Amino acid sequence: MEREFVMIKPNAVKRGLTSEIIKNYEQKGLKIVAMKMIKMKKSQAERLYTQHKGKDFYEPLLEFILSGPVIVMILEGPRAIETVRNINGETDPLKASPGSIRGKYGLSVRKNIVHASDSNKNAEEEWKIFFKEEEIIEYRNGLENEL
Ligand SMILES: Nc1ncnc2c1ncn2[C@@H]1O[C@H](COP(=O)(O)OP(=O)(O)OP(=O)(O)O)[C@@H](O)[C@H]1O
Ligand SMILES: [Mg+2]
Repeated sequence: MEREFVMIKPNAVKRGLTSEIIKNYEQKGLKIVAMKMIKMKKSQAERLYTQHKGKDFYEPLLEFILSGPVIVMILEGPRAIETVRNINGETDPLKASPGSIRGKYGLSVRKNIVHASDSNKNAEEEWKIFFKEEEIIEYRNGLENEL
């Protein structure tokens, strides 16, 4: 079992796409073990995007991610990182496969609807920016018998 950190970006929350997006992960069989809506603090955004500091898109990306509420969550399942990143699609929504979340709902690379961590190490580092240990809830869901 693996855990993945996922975030629904402000433009998707404002467009009312939250339930449509979560549905993709839930119906795939991934288990939501933590979730909340927040207005991110600048210090949190800087930690989240630390690997992009200095790039030309860094400052506009911070401004965008601070422009409204985001939904942050931790999803659990077999190869959750690869699974979620496939469901999300490529970074550029115009290159993302049409069935992916970015392929279905995105037009802009910066405002590409969702975020998901790219490794186990980064997933843990990123969810720790937003969640305390006690906010991660362990339970059994109905799909575990199918694995
Ligand atoms: N060339 C670019 N122009 C504008 N924004 C960009 C560009 N490249 C990346 N970004 C923004 O920075 C985020 C992080 O970039 P990264 O290369 O980590 O993409 P990703 O791993 O597909 O996406 P994410 O980390 O959000 O899941 C992207 O999701 C996008 O919002
Ligand atoms: Mg990334």
